[in-house]
Amino acid sequence: MSNPILLAPGPVQLHPEVQRILAQPMIHHRTPEFDCILAHALSGLKFLFQTEQPVFIHTSTGSGGMESALVNTLNPGDHVLAIVSGKFGERWAEIAEVYGAHVHRLPIAWGDAVSPEVVKNYLKENPQTKLVLTQACETSTATVHDIKALGEIVAQTNALLLVDGITAVGAFPIPMDEWKIDGLIAGSQKGIMLPTGLSFVSFSKKAWAVVETAKTPRYYFDLRKELKANKNGETLFSSAVSLIKALDFVLKELQTKDLKQHFKEIKRRADFTRTIGQLMGLSLYSKSPSDSVTAFQLPASITTENGVQLRTHFEKKYHVTIMGGQDQAKGKILRLGHMGYITDHDMIETMSRLASALHDFGCTIDSEKIKHESIQWLKANSL
Ligand SMILES: Cc1ncc(COP(=O)(O)O)c(C=O)c1O
Repeated sequence: MSNPILLAPGPVQLHPEVQRILAQPMIHHRTPEFDCILAHALSGLKFLFQTEQPVFIHTSTGSGGMESALVNTLNPGDHVLAIVSGKFGERWAEIAEVYGAHVHRLPIAWGDAVSPEVVKNYLKENPQTKLVLTQACETSTATVHDIKALGEIVAQTNALLLVDGITAVGAFPIPMDEWKIDGLIAGSQKGIMLPTGLSFVSFSKKAWAVVETAKTPRYYFDLRKELKANKNGETLFSSAVSLIKALDFVLKELQTKDLKQHFKEIKRRADFTRTIGQLMGLSLYSKSPSDSVTAFQLPASITTENGVQLRTHFEKKYHVTIMGGQDQAKGKILRLGHMGYITDHDMIETMSRLASALHDFGCTIDSEKIKHESIQWLKANSL
């Protein structure tokens, strides 16, 4: 059997050292040994988020991080602008509604990025807006938004910009302070290259003034209390010891390697995937493609029903797990992740096996040729 490969846009393949750390015997979270690991990890997160502000760790998935960002900044009845360019933009809107916000959805066609000018005009006409919610990368469409431009615009207003960076942080540059982001959220199973189970949240100084007084009830996600606990060298509740130990390893690696180099490696995977995919006749779905995940439109000859089956067939016969489309893109696209521990061999194998799977579904593709082109491209573009 060929080796299994996981190239989903999260969860991702783990570094062998992360796997080793996760298998270590448990230690208690109230020990000097763990205190030291936590202190390192919290400081490494500030490096990763590129912020002077504290970054918090929640034992939750990424959606918990989104909920935390909202309950800490929202007053029931607040007017909120949600940029909805896919499934996860809709999630922002739903969470804000659950907590009593008046949500104005700004619908963006799937695969398009939001126009910063439109947001600027909206905020001019609606100065009562308290929060602007967006993804940095809308994973369901593999599309990046211009967060730098949005940061400049929202900074001129009284509103806060909350950015779901779950498939951005650790995958491409998103400097929180420099880009004037008021709330940034990350998830462990994506650019942070760990298993699912942690989310990360940080707020700007502008946001902290709101956090202190926001009226939405909060208990587990009360970041005022978490801040006090972190200042005492602890997490507010039991720490996810194994995951935080592995996090500390990943953050040290990133600090040693340097973020620029790390982002270059991920961009190379994205560039490779886009080039070889197009050689196979697959076109890009997004008009503003992300480096963390690529979405390919399936050829017109493949029906929506076959599009769903193709992904399963690829996994069952060729042992490669990638993702298909969600909601309106179901059966129409394939999404390949570029985050995590990925070797050149994984990339060559993924593309040549994908060629074989497409061939099984009637496409005229020579998988040996794709393999050859993949090897050549990676050689010519080594870092
Ligand atoms: C952009 C984005 N936001 C939110 C989520 C939800 O994260 P989780 O499934 O960890 O709650 C995901 C997960 O795929 C995502 O990609």
